[in-house]
Parts: sequence; C-alpha cells; structure tokens
Amino acid sequence: MLVLGIETSCDETAAALVTDAREIRANVVLSQLDDHAPYGGIVPEIAARSHIEHLDGLIARAMREAGAEFSDLDGVAATAGPGLIGAVMVGLMTGKAVAAVHDLPLAAVNHLEGHALSARLSDAELQFPYLLLLISGGHCQLLLVEGVARYKRLGTTLDDAAGEAFDKAAKLLGLGYPGGPAIERAAAGGDGARFDLPRPLMGRAGCDFSFSGLKTALLYKVRALENGLDDATRADFAASFQQAVADVVIDRSRNAIRSFQKAHPQGRFLVAGGGVVANRLLRARLKALAAEHGLSLALPPLALCTDNAAMIAWAGIERLRLGLRDDLNAVPRARWPLDSQAAPPPGMGRAGKLGPKA
Ligand code: KG4
Ligand code: ZN
Repeated sequence: MLVLGIETSCDETAAALVTDAREIRANVVLSQLDDHAPYGGIVPEIAARSHIEHLDGLIARAMREAGAEFSDLDGVAATAGPGLIGAVMVGLMTGKAVAAVHDLPLAAVNHLEGHALSARLSDAELQFPYLLLLISGGHCQLLLVEGVARYKRLGTTLDDAAGEAFDKAAKLLGLGYPGGPAIERAAAGGDGARFDLPRPLMGRAGCDFSFSGLKTALLYKVRALENGLDDATRADFAASFQQAVADVVIDRSRNAIRSFQKAHPQGRFLVAGGGVVANRLLRARLKALAAEHGLSLALPPLALCTDNAAMIAWAGIERLRLGLRDDLNAVPRARWPLDSQAAPPPGMGRAGKLGPKA
C-alpha cells in the first residue's frame, strides 16, 4: 500500500510517500520560517498563500524522489485540521482533487493523530496501548493511545504550549526565533539554579499544563535587573527557564503514567512527540522517568517529531487499512480535539448557545 501524505496545517508545507511496510519513500518539508520572520510570528494569510504557491511543486518533488506515478498510489491522506483554517483548506482541497481525479480513497487526517501514530511508523514493535506526551509549539497534551481512532486526553495546556513558552521566553531574552533551540544553546553555559522561577501546577493532581505564569515571572525578573542583560545572565536565565519547564513536564507526565498504568497495567511504552522533544535535558529526564516506572521511552526520529507529511501518510495508512475512509465532503476544521469526549480544560468553559432572548 503506497499513500501520498499532505500536511499544510500551519507554517510547513509538506508532502510524503509512505508504504504500509513502513518505508518512507519521500518526505519533503518546506518551512515558511523566512516568510513570517519579519512579522515576529505566523501570519495566517501568508501561510495559506505560501501553501498554494508551493504545494503542487512539493508533491511533484516527493513523487519524483519516490520514483512513483499517481497510478502507483493506493490512497491519499491530507491533514483536515486542527490548524489555521486557510492553510488547512489548501492541503485538504489538494488531497481531495488528487483522490477524485485518480479515483483513490481519501483519509482526512487529524494532525494530532498524525503525531500520535508517528512513533508506530518508525518502530514496528510499538503496540497499543501507550501513553503519549505531545509537546510542540502548538500543542501540549498527554494522551492515552488505545488504538487507531481511540484516544483519551488526560491533560492539556490551560494557556501556552511548551514550545510557545520557549519561543516567548527566547524573545524576551533577545535570543531569536525559534526559541527552543536558542534557549537550549544559551542554557548550555548557564546556571539553572540562579533564578528561582515558578513551576506552575507542579505537585497538583491531574495532567494539565500551564506556562503563562512562568513566562510572566521571567519577564519581571528580567525587568528587575539593574544592569540589563549580559550574556552570562542570559545563559543563567535560559538554564533556569529550561529547568523549570522540564520539572513541570516531568511532574505532569508522572501523574499521567500513574493513570496509564492503572488503566492499562500491561502498557509498556511512553512515547514523546512534537518539536520540543528535540530538547536534550527533556529527553534525558523523560528517559529516567520512564525507567523509574518500568516503561520504555519511544522517541521517533526528529524528522518525524516536527511537523511533516510522512506522519499524515502513515495515519492515513492506519485508518485506510481499517476501512476508515472519508468522502469528498470532509470538512477542514480549525479546532478538532482528538478526544471528542474530553472535558474542556478548567476555566475554558464550553461553547454555549445563545438563548432566544439573549
Ligand atoms: O512540532 P514543531 O516543529 O511545530 C509545531 O509546533 O507545530 O515544534 C516547534 C516548537 C517550537 O516552539 C520550538 O521552539 C520548539 O518546538 N523546539 C524546542 C527545541 N527545538 C524546537 N524547544 C525546546 N528545546 C529545543 N531544542
Ligand atoms: Zn504538529
């Protein structure tokens, strides 16, 4: 089974060709980082236009690299959300067009499901159920992955995602974008014990995350400096911040492991995915945490952790081989929780209906 995957939910345009034998025959990603850099953040309109400009060429390149023709395909998988709506539309419409023209089955994939299943693409041994820490610039969640299309959310962030917190902290420290790698580099020479930063929600029950208080505390401490930021102070801030994030993530993950092991005493794996998994301190701490609980830590290679289309193709393969096909009416969705039964995080409320007189 050979499937074309398409990913355009945010600021990466990506196309990939993957087989059900776990062969990644092509995996091309075009980052729009330079397009958005002058604005200091992602501009949705620019993202959508850039996907339109590049997606055709990128698919052609992936087909060339894989040595495949459209007639060799057995299916098409495209991200249908969650993400920037204009951006999602470009990839999903393109996927539908390829499916319609070549009479192929379509999988309209949830981007989070792509992340959730990507570890099974790189690791044939990885069986359900497993616990997933999904930690990126857009997401910060702990999920029970019980099977394809069977996910339970144990916790999510109440405010910023962890990667977003790294990005904001780096901006504040004048370390550039993307912030995670910049903070990690700066932290290498720093003293992580110099600044006493808060660990939001640490020690509390549950698996939710919160990072905005940590970011604000950092802001106040930077403002309070009498002599401004020099390189040594910057390094100490970066190390202290990284330490605080790692402490929180480990604490929340420990609670999630307890829930996982209670629900699935036979469960063997902790999986981590998303761009923040690149962080070496976090990787080491996660490895120790897994070992502490008799679990193995499965980390997909970085190219499958950050946004890519191979994970979308793979999620499509997992769905299509179970007969989970989507038709050409599949809708793009800006919001799309993986676990539709999950209660909204505390303080988020529910989308309400206005009464007749409201
Ligand atoms: O998964 P990803 O590539 O994209 C999405 O968020 O969709 O994740 C990017 C995020 C950014 O916020 C970036 O700062 C963070 O991952 N990141 C890191 C590191 N490398 C990337 N955070 C901490 N340490 C790193 N080494
Ligand atoms: Zn992602």
